[in-house]
Amino acid sequence: MPEFIPVISEQEIKKQVKKIGQDISRDYQTKDLVLVGVLNGAFVFMADLTRQISIDHEIDFIGASSYEGTSSTGQILFTKQPDLELENRDVLLVEDIVDTGNTLLKIKNFITLLNPRSVKICSLIDKHERREVNIDVAYSCFSLEKGFIVGYGLDYDEKYRNLPAIYDLKL
Ligand code: IMP
Ligand code: MG
Repeated sequence: MPEFIPVISEQEIKKQVKKIGQDISRDYQTKDLVLVGVLNGAFVFMADLTRQISIDHEIDFIGASSYEGTSSTGQILFTKQPDLELENRDVLLVEDIVDTGNTLLKIKNFITLLNPRSVKICSLIDKHERREVNIDVAYSCFSLEKGFIVGYGLDYDEKYRNLPAIYDLKL
């Protein structure tokens, strides 16, 4: 039986998402903000984050999958392209977790081809131990050294996304 060790509570998540939402609202006041969530993992974070941003903004999603089980395949598959026009707009990529950084780097490079005015990254969790590429995470709610976590959108083989808090999964 897998074991779920609590790492971040619902209350802590709520508090941090609110703070990051306020930071983004302040920093993008004079900009043309489009949140682009990375499916599937970011869907829960995205839903909460957008409601903590007080300035006008638009929402889109990009579909990318890179993982099977707990190890990276090193391949990225684009399953959905953004629908909104991103040229000359200020794109904030919203991701569940940055681990090696490979997925987000590829997504960021792809978005850059659409000629936005700016592209920055907002991740619920910034996990450091296995980082392989130099990528700037402009906003993150939590910083973790290592571990494999699930809940609040984060999955293990597509399960446990529904858990309202974040747990370390011991298989
Ligand atoms: P990266 O390319 O190594 O940065 O991997 C990023 C993707 O791997 C994330 O979008 C997640 O879908 C998945 N991932 C990485 N670490 C974890 C974890 O601890 N729990 C669940 N998914 C993870
Ligand atoms: Mg995932």
